[in-house]
Amino acid sequence: MTEVQLRVNGVDVRHEVPDETLLVEFLRETLRLTGTHVGCDTSQCGACTINLDGVSVKSCTVLAAQASGGTVTTVEGLRAGEDAPLHPVQHAFIQCHGLQCGFCTPGMIMSVDFYLRRPPKLDEESICHALEGNICRCTGYVNIIEAVRHAAHDMYPAPAGATMERSQS
Ligand code: FES
Ligand code: FES
Repeated sequence: MTEVQLRVNGVDVRHEVPDETLLVEFLRETLRLTGTHVGCDTSQCGACTINLDGVSVKSCTVLAAQASGGTVTTVEGLRAGEDAPLHPVQHAFIQCHGLQCGFCTPGMIMSVDFYLRRPPKLDEESICHALEGNICRCTGYVNIIEAVRHAAHDMYPAPAGATMERSQS
């Protein structure tokens, strides 16, 4: 057994779990944060994507013990509280119909949140590159790409006619 301490969605947690516990298992089974999904056994689908210490991570690829001491945000923690407005990325997925069955959506939203933490490039190739670790079986991606653009324009309102480019620093 190993003790895992994490700050998850702004709350400090500490639990003893078997050494081999994956971070996604810790989130779903120990903390009951079931918004983070498991869609594969091969680290390919991205349904388990969370943010660990400021970086987008597939939580099925990390042991809970490896993450111990870190700060995690899951899809449940994206907005400020239960009564707070939806995060712009969540709102954009609804507005643009960026989901059908919704299974991929939490991971997709976490990856988009990470992509939009800096002013993004919004051409299709750049967005597809940013989301290449996330698989959606339903939507054909068209509305997901639109949701990324919608959220970006909400988060980085630009003067009319300006082109949004990711900063190079
Ligand atoms: S569950 Fe599929 S990549 Fe993690
Ligand atoms: S909405 Fe069904 S897998 Fe993406």
